[in-house]
Amino acid sequence: MQYRRLGSSGLQLSALSFGAWVTFGGQIGAEAARELIATAWDHGINFFDNAEGYANGEAERVMGQALAQLRLPRDGYCVSSKVMFGAVDDPRPTQRGLSRKHVVEACHDALRRLQVEHLDLYYCHRPDPDVPIEETVWAMDGLIRQGKVLYWGTSEWPAASIREAHKVARAHHLHPPTMEQPQYNLLHRERVELEYAPLYAELGLGATTWSPLASGLLTGKYREGFSSQGRLGLADTAWLQRLVVGGSEQRRLARVEAFVAIARELGEPPAPLAIAWCLRNPHVSSVILGASRSDQLRQNLQALDLAARIGEADWLRIENAVA
Ligand SMILES: NC(=O)c1ccc[n+]([C@@H]2O[C@H](COP(=O)([O-])OP(=O)(O)OC[C@H]3O[C@@H](n4cnc5c(N)ncnc54)[C@H](OP(=O)(O)O)[C@@H]3O)[C@@H](O)[C@H]2O)c1
Repeated sequence: MQYRRLGSSGLQLSALSFGAWVTFGGQIGAEAARELIATAWDHGINFFDNAEGYANGEAERVMGQALAQLRLPRDGYCVSSKVMFGAVDDPRPTQRGLSRKHVVEACHDALRRLQVEHLDLYYCHRPDPDVPIEETVWAMDGLIRQGKVLYWGTSEWPAASIREAHKVARAHHLHPPTMEQPQYNLLHRERVELEYAPLYAELGLGATTWSPLASGLLTGKYREGFSSQGRLGLADTAWLQRLVVGGSEQRRLARVEAFVAIARELGEPPAPLAIAWCLRNPHVSSVILGASRSDQLRQNLQALDLAARIGEADWLRIENAVA
């Protein structure tokens, strides 16, 4: 494994990390989840990502159980949660969002479900237009001062809002957000590469990126259609299929096709190749992987080797093909 600093902070995260979305508490059982955490840990992964909204808190419960059963040393790994969407169906106004009330209560709930005494990373899962940024910054700072959270950050916040949070923090000597959690893959690059570009140096922003395979699309396994086994073929994820493939379905699938063709030419599996491309960006602190089975995770871990082995000319060819 390779370890990278989380922005300008002193926290070293594994360059590949592992998240629970869709899978834990939903698509897979507790035993498969435990096996995935064990595989990740055995390969040096030290960051496990979660959120209150994943399966209404069930993903955190399953992850907490796995971490406890495997008896992983608490100082050897980092675990996160995210707050915004709530952990119940049809949340009432105080059961969601970034008010001080919900930020604090969601933290307590995540600690209980994950069976830990502090969250290493705690993210605002989206911006909340109904809450002043100042209130959220104060709430996060309070949790840090109480030792319940070590680093806080944002997920998919506009650069201007991240800057505003820093401004508030500077004015009141509070802890500013350390990291962002944006989507980043060969099909979705702009925010990480353009919008946030000035923030890495200016604010020391770290980036833990999500969906390196665009929910599995970049593996090429949906080339024959979405009826195959896999996340985008699941009955209750039709909304996700629309989101991932987008309005211009043929165009996105053609881009994937072009990528898979180059992978085949290079004799490399598409999944770790697509993940390796994310790793090449030096501003990425950690690429958060997802997997429904351990053999997928093991294959994806080959990305570390591929990132070092594939030459510039081939990366350029790949980028041009999917542009
Ligand atoms: N902050 C946010 O808003 C946000 C949003 C989304 C995700 N995330 C975080 O980022 C993590 C990773 O995102 P993601 O799960 O979307 O990542 P991803 O890598 O884009 O998709 C992972 C899925 O692709 C399939 N897959 C993975 N490796 C494969 C392989 N080698 N061969 C074939 N299929 C493979 C698996 O699903 P199937 O086997 O079911 O096809 C797996 O669950 C999440 O768990 C979560 O922690 C954060």
